[in-house]
Amino acid sequence: MCGIVGYTGRRACAEILVEGLRKLEYRGYDSAGIAVQERQKLKTVKAKGKIREGLEKKLSEEAPLTAVCGIGHTRWATHGEPSDINSHPIGNGRVSIVHNGIIENYRKVKEFLISAGYAFESETDTEVVAKLLDYYYEGDPLEAVRKTVAEIDGAYAIGILFRDFPDKIYAVRKECPLIVGKGDGEMFIASDITAILKETREYYLLEDGEIAELDQSGVIFRDIHSAVLQKELLTATWDVEAAEKGGYAHFMLKEIHEEPQAFKNAVSPRIRDGLVSFEECGLTDEMLKKYKHVYIVGCGSAMHAGTVGKYVIEALARMPVVVDIASEFRYRDPLLSPEDLVIVISQSGETADTKAALKLANGIGADTLAIVNVVGSSIAREAKMVMYTMAGPEISVCSTKAYMVQTAFMYLFAFKLALARGMISEEECRSLVGELCAVPEKIGECLKKLEPYQYAASKLVNAESLLYIGRGLDYALSMEGSLKLKEISYIHSESYAAGELKHGTISLIEQGTPVIAVATQTKLFEKTQSNIKEVKSRGAFVVVVCPEDMSLEQESTDLAVRIPSGSDLLMPLVAVVPLQLIAYYTAVLRDCDVDKPRNLAKSVTVE
Ligand code: AGP
Repeated sequence: MCGIVGYTGRRACAEILVEGLRKLEYRGYDSAGIAVQERQKLKTVKAKGKIREGLEKKLSEEAPLTAVCGIGHTRWATHGEPSDINSHPIGNGRVSIVHNGIIENYRKVKEFLISAGYAFESETDTEVVAKLLDYYYEGDPLEAVRKTVAEIDGAYAIGILFRDFPDKIYAVRKECPLIVGKGDGEMFIASDITAILKETREYYLLEDGEIAELDQSGVIFRDIHSAVLQKELLTATWDVEAAEKGGYAHFMLKEIHEEPQAFKNAVSPRIRDGLVSFEECGLTDEMLKKYKHVYIVGCGSAMHAGTVGKYVIEALARMPVVVDIASEFRYRDPLLSPEDLVIVISQSGETADTKAALKLANGIGADTLAIVNVVGSSIAREAKMVMYTMAGPEISVCSTKAYMVQTAFMYLFAFKLALARGMISEEECRSLVGELCAVPEKIGECLKKLEPYQYAASKLVNAESLLYIGRGLDYALSMEGSLKLKEISYIHSESYAAGELKHGTISLIEQGTPVIAVATQTKLFEKTQSNIKEVKSRGAFVVVVCPEDMSLEQESTDLAVRIPSGSDLLMPLVAVVPLQLIAYYTAVLRDCDVDKPRNLAKSVTVE
């Protein structure tokens, strides 16, 4: 998720563009740049790093720009590490573009352009769009845009400058947000209203497949067949902070609602002909066949994603998986050998303990695969292989969408490993992949009605401590549910294997003690039901998170939170959403600082 902005008008635009980018930095902040129509030339100034350290510094070293038309971009890298050359705007002397999104077929388009004589400078998917526009441009920008859009697949919002049209900006989108702002004798494009709220509150929403042609006198909207469209002018009522959160009260709630799209962004590029492809990191079936053990290492929610992974991998691939907390792994002299694979999971890619665990594994000569969200981060650079989770920036300290996509990766890995080791057939693998691709819709179902989670939270708000219980995958998931609640609501909470309760912890249960039972595994349901009865009979207030078709015994359930049904194996990917939302609403009801909980940091870079 990057931020793009554009301006065409009468005022010098460099500072207007930079100010817009500052407002969009929550969307991505690893590099930034602007391109302007300066004295009949396309002038680009861009740099790696945050706007203050990179772009602003470079601009201060330049002669003042007088241009009144330009585009700008702040980046969240997906293809190509953060660097000056990979930052946007990208283009040549004739065309310059800024892009938010992912061009899924960029490799194929790149091959075609190379065969047409084009050379590439960056590692980005975006550059193929700039080159394709140049390839099709024969004096008619709209024609070039139409032909280019017909060739590219994926999600995108693109702002375009053509040198030959010094006061025009062209813009097109598919799935990624893009608005056109209307000012007095000036026009804007932006990823969202935050970028231009200081300048105007009037804007148009660009829909998928529509092309906008802007100049200071106004905008013309056309569909893909060049038919002119009339569009409604809207007025923004939000303040900047609300706009950054997309109208959600907190980044955590916004990021939970981003989970269906983040899931698609993470999974779809890794599906080829219905099977899992890890081509991008070089992990081959030959390698997967030779590994003796798989180790999964991480901290906090990342380790919890690995724990779900252990259950799924062992169930499908029938090989031993060791999950470790990184701060333990790095000092316990693990029984690791060069024939093992170590998967390290990290949203930030900078967590000190996970980094050290990776170093240790590299030192022993084991293969290392990093599942990371931040492109170009230390862990991504040090691992032998890396897969990016493409969840976009996660601002809230409390990890939600990053955990979701990390867990989705565990399923992709399990399917690929099981097929490579002949433990499942291609047909079984395709059906599992099919089920996985259906998960975003089920997450969407959970997000449609928030009242059940708000109601459950109202029952937990005064708790001093509570228990999460589950069996199998539900136990692995309850760990994450418990952490979410603890870290943002400050209620003491423990997750416990439901069958283990009677060996001690059940002594904590007294009248009204809240117990959240995660019961999505049909094969273990009877067992979990009997554990629910155990705590209920000792006075617990029982909330059960279970599929809509699961029949619960009313007398032992105080509150049932239902989720869409599906196969046991994939339930954690759906059932985590109610657990995240129950934690969120409990923290909100306790008036906690949900996005910046006390004592925590988004990335723990110290030991
Ligand atoms: C989760 O909500 C926490 N923010 C924390 O446990 C986090 O998962 C842990 O610090 C690991 O961070 P990483 O994924 O960036 O390595």
